[in-house]
Amino acid sequence: MNAIEIAGLYKQFSGKRMTKVEALKGIDLTITAGEVFGFLGPNGAGKSTTIKLVMGLLRPTAGTAQIMGMDVSQAESRRHVGYLPENPAFYDYLSAEEYIAFVGSQFKIESRLLAQRSEEVLKRLDLWEARKRPMRGYSKGMVQRVGLAQTLVHDPAIYILDEPMSGLDPIGRALVKDIILDLKARGKCVFFSTHITDDVEKVCDRVGVIVKGSLVALDLVENILRSGVEGYVIHLQLPDTDTRSFAGINLLRQTNSVSEFYVPCSSFNAFMGEVNRNGIDVILVETKRRDLEDFFLSLVHTNRES
Ligand SMILES: Nc1ncnc2c1ncn2[C@@H]1O[C@H](COP(=O)(O)OP(=O)(O)OP(=O)(O)O)[C@@H](O)[C@H]1O
Ligand SMILES: [Mg+2]
Repeated sequence: MNAIEIAGLYKQFSGKRMTKVEALKGIDLTITAGEVFGFLGPNGAGKSTTIKLVMGLLRPTAGTAQIMGMDVSQAESRRHVGYLPENPAFYDYLSAEEYIAFVGSQFKIESRLLAQRSEEVLKRLDLWEARKRPMRGYSKGMVQRVGLAQTLVHDPAIYILDEPMSGLDPIGRALVKDIILDLKARGKCVFFSTHITDDVEKVCDRVGVIVKGSLVALDLVENILRSGVEGYVIHLQLPDTDTRSFAGINLLRQTNSVSEFYVPCSSFNAFMGEVNRNGIDVILVETKRRDLEDFFLSLVHTNRES
């Protein structure tokens, strides 16, 4: 069974003076159980709108969304979901411990198990020391970490996280990436939005790119990175006096008997063949690729202009 299934999801908001905002222009997307999916898009692309529709917090103008085969208009569909909203805000006179206990009770977790889970998640999110303090005294990053802690407490199968790394310092970001990788190792499904490509590159199996309310790319991260290979920088061991070319490729630079060549993908086999025939030692082959950020930026430029 699919974890999340979105079909023809369309959302129009009414703005001021009878204006209409088309936030989502008909999105189709299927997220399978056990996958980590990155929903990547620039500001205003429609990421939070999609997530709110999937969480049943907004109603679609057209189209449907299902969680584990159940339409999201049924509250029951969210039983197995941990949800982190964008800019979470809590009853700030409660402490993190009290809030986690409240969330756990909503999911009817038995009290001894809840105490154990609460301790686990508060420690995991580095909130243990602060757990008894009212949240109004928490920093932005601490509030974000409470937001994540409350998604974990009932150990759901699906995690829907709207910008989970937002507002966190590098240590917090690394912690969240680690948590997502742990969830993945335990076979959980994580669907998270971000506009930071590095977050996706490090943890996701698949990525969907949304621009101006439309899904403009959907692929395995691995495929995108592989298709981005443009060439190789190859280091050969050659005496400094040897400045010959191989397969028509000239020397780029030379230092201390190491000669560097830039070899486009199309010339790789011919270049290596000639190097081998000449019995020359290859010291290093470095792949030159467009990364996910280049891919994302070119998609955003193309689709913003259209
Ligand atoms: N309640 C609303 N009323 C009117 N327009 C809205 C409403 N909510 C969102 N929008 C519009 O819908 C579009 C998509 O907004 P959304 O919040 O989904 O973007 P996002 O991808 O989450 O952006 P960000 O990265 O800034 O969080 C924007 O043009 C936004 O102005
Ligand atoms: Mg958003």
